Amino acid sequence: MAVALQVRNLFKRFDTDQGEVRAVEDVTFDVESGAFFTLLGPSGCGKSTTLRCIAGLERPDDGDITLEDAVLVSSSRGMWTPPHKRPMGMVFQSYAIWPHMNVFDNVAFPLKQGPQKFSNAETRDRVMRSLALVHLDGLEKRPAPQLSGGQQQRLALARALVNEPKALLLDEPLSNLDAKLREEMRNELKLLTSTLGITTLFVTHDQLEALTLSDQVAVMDSGRLVQYGPPREIYEAPRNRFAAEFIGSANFFEGTVTDAAETGGVTGVETEHGVLRCTTAEAVGKGTRVAVAVRPENVMLHTGAPPAGDDVNVLSGTVASVVYLGNTLDCQVEVNGALVKADVHPGEDVNENDTVALSFKVSASRVVPVGVAVAAAEQAG
Ligand SMILES: Nc1ncnc2c1ncn2[C@@H]1O[C@H](COP(=O)(O)OP(=O)(O)O)[C@@H](O)[C@H]1O
Ligand SMILES: [Mg+2]
Repeated sequence: MAVALQVRNLFKRFDTDQGEVRAVEDVTFDVESGAFFTLLGPSGCGKSTTLRCIAGLERPDDGDITLEDAVLVSSSRGMWTPPHKRPMGMVFQSYAIWPHMNVFDNVAFPLKQGPQKFSNAETRDRVMRSLALVHLDGLEKRPAPQLSGGQQQRLALARALVNEPKALLLDEPLSNLDAKLREEMRNELKLLTSTLGITTLFVTHDQLEALTLSDQVAVMDSGRLVQYGPPREIYEAPRNRFAAEFIGSANFFEGTVTDAAETGGVTGVETEHGVLRCTTAEAVGKGTRVAVAVRPENVMLHTGAPPAGDDVNVLSGTVASVVYLGNTLDCQVEVNGALVKADVHPGEDVNENDTVALSFKVSASRVVPVGVAVAAAEQAG
């Protein structure tokens, strides 16, 4: 697949009363042509600023941005393309719809601003095509404020698409909708972008949106991109503690690497619970301080004999609490004074104070570094 959007070493800082804010710090990524790419991270991590630099609404301090063959920003070459000359459509969280205009005029607006001139017939044709895409045809004469939340959202999408942009930029477009509508619009958005085959850059703080919509997810923390990959890889093989904690939840066992291991290899980690065998995404050296991350759904609980073998870790402990969540039992098990979380099938008979064994596969035990990223995650949360 060809790369459509290239972002290289992007930096953006703001001077504020409280001093300098490093909103975007050395962010680099590629979006493949036609892909749905998501920037995921907590509020304030720099998602919108990154998107606004791409749209041309902010001027980055440093970095390069190209879209297909066009250089939009190159700080080394002193190039910067103004927003109306960038072939992109954008939807904001607030939709930014013109309240004094009807549906038709809202969608037609970008056609009047763009570099190209359109006849009335062409304008009508394009607007009606855009409205049909988002199922708003028939409502073109309706004043924009008389639309429901979901319809305003669709209107904003139609307006973003009317110039037939090469990329669609979406900044938390579903956040203002109630839960039911959000799910509906999520499915529609997925269908629309894949039908059009349009390169899409989506911003959200919602892990479920990111996992369900995206071909690629980039996790951001404090202005930096900490990991990017397909949703399954991000979830199953988090590369640091921040990614493991922000997406889903995880148990962490800190310790020291017993043997050097290559990328994708298996190593031991000496922890307060003994040596745990685990899989590492990156090469690690003997003696390195790391944490082992294990997701609660990968921790099996046994009231009888646990499994044995060198592909599994086994701990023993006492059940401290069991919370019924309908589809799962959220169990906390005390192991050597630490609490380990396990998601257990609701059909299991587990009770407080039971003596149990816990097992988790070596393949589901992931080495994550401790250090800078941990400090940042703890500050944030
Ligand atoms: N115009 C601005 N002036 C000063 N600080 C800003 C401005 N825009 C964003 N910031 C700061 O930059 C950081 C990143 O903001 P933003 O990109 O909006 O984060 P996100 O979209 O991930 O919530 C935050 O600390 C925010 O307060
Ligand atoms: Mg934002």
